[in-house]
Amino acid sequence: MNEITNTIQQIIKHLFDIEVGIQLSRPDAQFGDYATNIAMQLTKKVGKNPREIAELIADKLRETDIFTEVTIAGPGFINLRVSAKSLAKSLDDNWSENYGGNGDGESKTAVVEYPSANMAKPFSVGHLRSGNQGWAVKRLLETTGWKVITDNHLGDYGTPFGIWVAGYLKFSDDEALARDGVYELGRVYVQTKKALKEEKERGESGLADLAQEWLIKLEQGDATAKMYSEKFNKISLEHIHDIMNRLKIPTDYELGEAFFAPMGKEIAAKLVENGVAVKNDDNSIIVSLDEYGFDVPMLIQKSNGTALYATNDLATLYYREENWHPDKVVYCVGSEQQFYFTQLFAMAEKIGIKTELYHLWFGAIDQINDDGTRGKMSSRKGVVSLEELLDTAEAKAREVVKSGDISDDDIKKISLGAIKFSDFAADRRTNILFDWNSIFALTGFSGPYIQYAAVRVNKILNDNTVVDYDENYDFESEKSVILKLLQYPEVVRTAARDLEPHKVAMFLYELAKELNRYYENTPVAIGDVTEIEKQARLNLLQKVSQIFINGLDLLGIEVPSKM
Ligand code: ARG
Repeated sequence: MNEITNTIQQIIKHLFDIEVGIQLSRPDAQFGDYATNIAMQLTKKVGKNPREIAELIADKLRETDIFTEVTIAGPGFINLRVSAKSLAKSLDDNWSENYGGNGDGESKTAVVEYPSANMAKPFSVGHLRSGNQGWAVKRLLETTGWKVITDNHLGDYGTPFGIWVAGYLKFSDDEALARDGVYELGRVYVQTKKALKEEKERGESGLADLAQEWLIKLEQGDATAKMYSEKFNKISLEHIHDIMNRLKIPTDYELGEAFFAPMGKEIAAKLVENGVAVKNDDNSIIVSLDEYGFDVPMLIQKSNGTALYATNDLATLYYREENWHPDKVVYCVGSEQQFYFTQLFAMAEKIGIKTELYHLWFGAIDQINDDGTRGKMSSRKGVVSLEELLDTAEAKAREVVKSGDISDDDIKKISLGAIKFSDFAADRRTNILFDWNSIFALTGFSGPYIQYAAVRVNKILNDNTVVDYDENYDFESEKSVILKLLQYPEVVRTAARDLEPHKVAMFLYELAKELNRYYENTPVAIGDVTEIEKQARLNLLQKVSQIFINGLDLLGIEVPSKM
């Protein structure tokens, strides 16, 4: 609604010689289509009461031919009403630049990091959230003109390799591994950790010694140890890639922790040399973060000389800055690492990293347990494997579709639509409740509800021939839908600025609801409708269809051809 804000801006400049930015809000429909509280904001600068200021501005607004009604309410709100026809025209005029997703030319570079899953463990629901949010953030930034580089920061270092081999030899075998893959690795790990604890309580160390032996063997390049390491890594990576493929969230790079570990150690040594880090008597290396208000320093090398999670992140910071020159790095990682990232970012500042760093954190996914209590969903408790989750989603998708002959491809789109959309049900910082019924509800805030609305629009468009419409059509019946569509560019800009994809989800939900209200009162192509009305309405639906496609795409969701 640039025309309206520009006009108000010009009037204020002309009347008071003040330059201001104008925010329009949407008042209750009985008062108008748009409202502004600018008169209240100007009170001090202008030295008049807000009501007087509003009157002066309103008089000038009435002289333009943009508004059908200008009224003043309360202490100085200016309410504006615009003709539906002019709104439709504005939608048309600004269509390609604002709605085609061409971006506003920020031409900056962002690195977005997701899902950063871990080796030897089943892909978790936390990594599912990281992937969904990360992908949406990538699309939002791209659509607003950023160059985006995506990176899967694999957790492939320090995975207690020794524990794995020792445990595998004691508690597992090739058959189980071939059958259950990464789930067997996960199981072995948990069982071995338990056995190690029990052994320790008994004052023994046989298993622990064995684990240590294998770790040393690997570091010395022993062939058998390498064989195990490669075998386990291959199983894990295939699993991670399978899930990422099913979720359709590929990344450009996959530079895991192991890739950075050697660099990290060098950097740690350099930081000691130039006095930023301190080497303790026991050979460990720390960076003090006193001046940033942390009483614990950051440990960047263990006393036995090995790298840590933070060491690898340190190297990652340098590597990205040197190779990709990003303006911003977005880490999509759960809320439990908030403290870690504030520490990491403080250290980054201390060592002179210039890139803006952002921890895009999110809450857990909860579920209702069998006993009716609410708890964190996790694969550890044996509750979910991501594969099972995706399979179940596909089965549920088949249940909700109304069309008999539906392709596998469409089923996948609907099941992913349901799962992904639920990630954007609320601000990402809140925990979300995973509940099969609501994520597939065709009547509520769900992916399939929006997809169904889009499919319905597309069906109307497919069943009819659309030609140019008569410009004299008044669009009065379509006014609410048009007002909604006009909000889209601002919604995308805000969502991209704040890295909050749920704002797009909310918008799409409101658009779908608005559309359903519209159909209830207005025949589009069949029934009591003239040819002029029909063409104008079909033309508008083309725009609606485009916004559904674009908006869902920002969330990584596709529109099925049928439902
Ligand atoms: N692999 C880690 C985990 O699952 C997340 C990695 C996050 N990224 C980072 N640069 N530290 O906990």
